[in-house]
Amino acid sequence: MQVESAWLNTATAPRRTEIASADVSNAGEFAGRRVLVTGAASGIGRATAEALHAAGAELILIDRDEAGLESLRASLGGSTFAIDLADEGAIRTAVDKGARDLGGIDGVANVAGIGGAGRIDELSLGDWDRVLRVNLTAPMLVVREALPHLKASFAPAIVNVSSGQGLLPSIPGLSPYCASKGGLVTLTKAMAIELAPIRVNVVCPGVVDTPLIPDSLRQSAVLATSPYALKRLATPEEIAEAILFLIGPRSSFITGVALAVDGGRTYH
Ligand code: NAI
Repeated sequence: MQVESAWLNTATAPRRTEIASADVSNAGEFAGRRVLVTGAASGIGRATAEALHAAGAELILIDRDEAGLESLRASLGGSTFAIDLADEGAIRTAVDKGARDLGGIDGVANVAGIGGAGRIDELSLGDWDRVLRVNLTAPMLVVREALPHLKASFAPAIVNVSSGQGLLPSIPGLSPYCASKGGLVTLTKAMAIELAPIRVNVVCPGVVDTPLIPDSLRQSAVLATSPYALKRLATPEEIAEAILFLIGPRSSFITGVALAVDGGRTYH
């Protein structure tokens, strides 16, 4: 098999186990650390929760998908909350109860997000508000509620998950999504200056092989002509690696950074 074709799809991308065997394992790195993950039931959030668990973290897991959370709790343990992140009161209750269950919070990974499709001339205010609420307002509310616990923590860190579309919009019809994700990049930088010494960074993924993306983006013909230098989708595990790096001790002098993990789409 040629190297070029081997890298066209996620089936041949390096999996976490292979990365670990290349001696960059996070094993034990999060022992004693309590990390809250939103969007934990699927995709990038699930991969992040699993990687954090493997690295020794205790978890507060939030998602609206109750069944997905239950299956996670069965394998990872932790404190789980099936809530809608558009609900301010539910966020307050979940963060408060999660912190009490685990005795504190050392890290927050704001991963949950929704797509937002619709050209501006056909966009309803309700659709716009919903995307902004889940993708931009909810991360702020989660951080606000977690703040007293983060301030009491040794080496606290926050990682938000934006998108390459928040750095360099490239798909018509995604205005609410792009605005929410661009806002999240700037919110991250504002938080980094305001909340220091709590570190706050943002990961901006390219297209990742999760239920969020349309099947059309999984076609190798699409990928072959895409502006992605690496010409393939990311695996959720590859994005989780970046989140773990930024939320963990190896990035102790990094804050306010937007890290593109996008197979080389936004740098050129
Ligand atoms: P996903 O759809 O697999 O997972 C998202 C999770 O968030 C789901 O479990 C869902 O139930 C949860 N969620 C959504 N709205 C919620 C709400 N109101 N309340 C509680 N939970 C809610 O998606 P994926 O791909 O893992 O996305 C994770 C993050 O990565 C999102 O913020 C997304 O915008 C971002 N991203 C994803 C990319 C991709 O290609 N998949 C590319 C760039 C960014």
